Order: sequence, then structure tokens, then C-alpha cells
Amino acid sequence: MRISVFGCGYLGAVHAACMTQLGHEVVGIDVIPDHVAALARGEAPFFEPGLPEILAEGLASGRLTFTTDATSAADATVHFVCVGTPQKRGENAADLAYVHSAIDALLPILKAGDVVVGKSTVPVGTAESLAERIAEVHPDVELIWNPEFLREGFAVEDTLRPDRFVYGHADTEAGRAAAGQLDEVYAVALASGTPKIVADLATAQLVKVAANSFLATKISFINAMAELCEATGADVTLLADAIGHDNRIGRRFLNAGVGFGGGCLPKDIRAFMARAGELGVDQALTFLREVDSINMRRRVRMVDLAREVCGGSIVGRRVAVLGAAFKPNSDDVRDSPALSVAAQMQLQGAQVTVTDPEAIDNAAKKWPELSFAASVDDAVRGAEVVLLLTEWSEYVALDPVALRGQVASPRIIDGRNCLEPAVWRDAGWTYRALGRP
Ligand SMILES: NC(=O)c1ccc[n+]([C@@H]2O[C@H](COP(=O)([O-])OP(=O)(O)OC[C@H]3O[C@@H](n4cnc5c(N)ncnc54)[C@H](O)[C@@H]3O)[C@@H](O)[C@H]2O)c1
Repeated sequence: MRISVFGCGYLGAVHAACMTQLGHEVVGIDVIPDHVAALARGEAPFFEPGLPEILAEGLASGRLTFTTDATSAADATVHFVCVGTPQKRGENAADLAYVHSAIDALLPILKAGDVVVGKSTVPVGTAESLAERIAEVHPDVELIWNPEFLREGFAVEDTLRPDRFVYGHADTEAGRAAAGQLDEVYAVALASGTPKIVADLATAQLVKVAANSFLATKISFINAMAELCEATGADVTLLADAIGHDNRIGRRFLNAGVGFGGGCLPKDIRAFMARAGELGVDQALTFLREVDSINMRRRVRMVDLAREVCGGSIVGRRVAVLGAAFKPNSDDVRDSPALSVAAQMQLQGAQVTVTDPEAIDNAAKKWPELSFAASVDDAVRGAEVVLLLTEWSEYVALDPVALRGQVASPRIIDGRNCLEPAVWRDAGWTYRALGRP
């Protein structure tokens, strides 16, 4: 099929390249000329494992192109909207300007029988208003809401082999026919048995924010338990193991630490609260305010713990921060807890050097006041305390004996509870972590 993808960021670039892998002809459209030029050369403008390979294959096949020219989408019949929906400045609500600008670009080129597929995460009610906008000009074009659940770091795999599809569309003949076209796009995954949930537009939009709210709540739940553990001398990792054995609870997403971040969870729960307020059901989501607060408190606690470990003050202390990305296997620093802690410590007088395998460029753009080092060795040299804030596998595998020779004082704070405390203590380190003695 001929497909267009509007918005070629973390979601759209991967989606475009993966759709080519499935045999479709794809044009990716973005408004940032540098990103488009890089993608057209086969260079991913961000780090995502597996993306460079499938970009190269797609471009070589001649079935994948990138452009800033929206009219190039005119030949496509299925148009994916993958543009950003960031938090509005100074408000909790989502900024829908990019979604509307993508629809503005689509309206002049849509033709009878085309399908517009929304993948961006939007406040419930957005799809209905977009459908109205489209129907005013093109009554014979359908809108389907098809939220995306990919995880950065696993985006290629998640797009090619998702754990489920959700389609939201009108329960009409035209709506079902449009869904049939989307089935053709996803034919390979559907044939392998991927579950498909068909819903109305409102449910499909809610599924995505409900899923992210649940995940955020699970993380903040265990981080709240970490606060209790810190007050009582208990160990939150053992607590998580013990409750996680109950398969009604499950162990995943129960890792206490410096909390969640990134371009989705924080802004999605805030936009969800804002939308609930508009709908007059804000009480239903009051708990998300607490989820957000618990999460942000962990960052403050991390700085306080570093101060405690440094004997009461971090002013002038040399601090090494391992990790800048909001999670491993990504270079995404949007609302990264690691970077937020590093910046706070710098603002409070510490001399902070940050390292990360992939995210230094993005981090340096966001916080040029911080110092950056290309390797762990360079970052920790002379450090009085080391903070592990993003659990990259190479950091988890660090040798405490070798590292001890590089630092000024062997003190480490494990912000992700991903190290073996006994191994580090036996190697002569002062080991501290969130939620455990
Ligand atoms: N990143 C993820 O892991 C992920 C996962 C699931 C859902 N989502 C959702 O997907 C959406 C996109 O997220 P992202 O992380 O890819 O954001 P992003 O900022 O990386 O990418 C968005 C892209 O859209 C482009 N854009 C803006 N207006 C445009 C227009 N009118 N036409 C064409 N391109 C335009 C921007 O230039 C940018 O490159 C968001 O709603 C997000 O919540 C993201």
C-alpha cells in the first residue's frame, strides 16, 4: 500500500521505516529540514537500536522516501499522523498545535477513500474534532484512532510485532471499510495472531493515556513504598520481589529508584488530568497528582541523599553522574530524571560531570552549564561521589574494584537499584540507594 507518515520523530521515523519492512511504499514527512535530510541519507536523527539498519534497507529498496513537502503524500491512501503532542508551556494540558497543523497539511491533498490514522497521544475528544474537520471538506475520508504503544529502545520490534492493536473508528460501513484498509497495512502482524481491539474513538484515545497512567502509578507506588522503607530501614527491592510474586501484582515496573521521565509518561498523565478537569470529572484522576508528586520527590530525595553521603554539603564537590537519558537504550532526555538531578546538583553548587553512551549531545543542548565526559573513566576521575541514574547495561556491569582506583572517594548512589550492594561494599565503596539500607 502507499502510505504517508506525518511527523518523523521517535515514533514516526520508526513507523515509516517499519511500514517499508512490511512491504509498503512510504513517504515520511516532517517540518524539520535537517531531520528530513538526515533520514533521507539513512541517518537516524536520534538513537534507536535497529533503526539505522531498517532505514538503509528501506531507502535501498526505493520504497521509503522522506521530504518536507506535504503534497508528496497525495499519492498515498493511508496517512499516519505521528506528530508531537507536548505539554503546553505553563499548563498541564497537551499542545495540539502540531496535530492540527498536520491535518491542515492533509486537507488539500486527501481524496475519496483515503484513511487518516491518528497515532499521536491526544486528549480524549481530539479525534472527534479532527474527524469533523476532515468531514467538512472530505465526507468520503475516514479517521481511525490507532494509538501507539512502542517503547523507546525497543521501538522497531514493538512496531513490527506489537502486543496489540487498538482501532477506534465510527461504527459505520465507511468506518469498517477504513479499518479494512488498516488491516491491510498491518496484515503481517495480524496474520501472526496479534490481538486487535476495535472500539469507538473515545475509548481508543483513552486506552493510551489509561495505560500510561497505570504504568506511572505502578512506578510511583513502589517509590512511595521506598519512602516508607527509608523511614523504617526496610528494603524496597525485597519488598518488590515479595509482592511481585503475586501474579495479580507482577514484578515488572516495580523497580524503585529515581522515577519515570521521558517524552510520554509525565506529560501524558498531566494532560489526562487537565482533560478530566475540562470534562468535569477531575476527582477521578486526583490520584495522578500524587503519582506525579511522588515521582518528582524522588529527584529531590536523590539530591538530599548525595548531600548526606558528602557529609552535609555538595558545594564544590565533584560529582560524577552516570546516565543522562531518561532510560537506557535511548538518547531521549525529555524530562529525564537523571538530567534533572544532575542539573539540580550543579545549581546547588556541586561540580557535576555527566556521561551517557548516547545522550550527551541532547543533554548538552538542554543543560550546557553541566560538564560532559565521553566515558565513565573520564567522568569519575577525581569524583567524590558517583550517581548511577540511568541503568545502561554497561553501568550495571561496572567493576567496582577497577572503578575504585579512579575516584577520589569511593561513594556510589545507585539511583536505579540495579547494582549488587554487597559486591560494591566488599570492594570498599560506600553504597547507598533509594529505599534500601
Ligand atoms: N516516543 C515514544 O516512545 C512514543 C510512544 C507512543 C506514543 N508517542 C506519541 O507519539 C507522538 C510523537 O512522539 P515523538 O516522541 O515521536 O515526538 P517527536 O517530538 O520526537 O516527533 C514529532 C515530530 O513531528 C514533527 N512535526 C510537527 N509538526 C508537523 C507537521 N505539521 N507535519 C509533519 N511533521 C510535523 C516534528 O518536527 C517532530 O519531528 C506524541 O503524541 C507521543 O506522545 C510517543
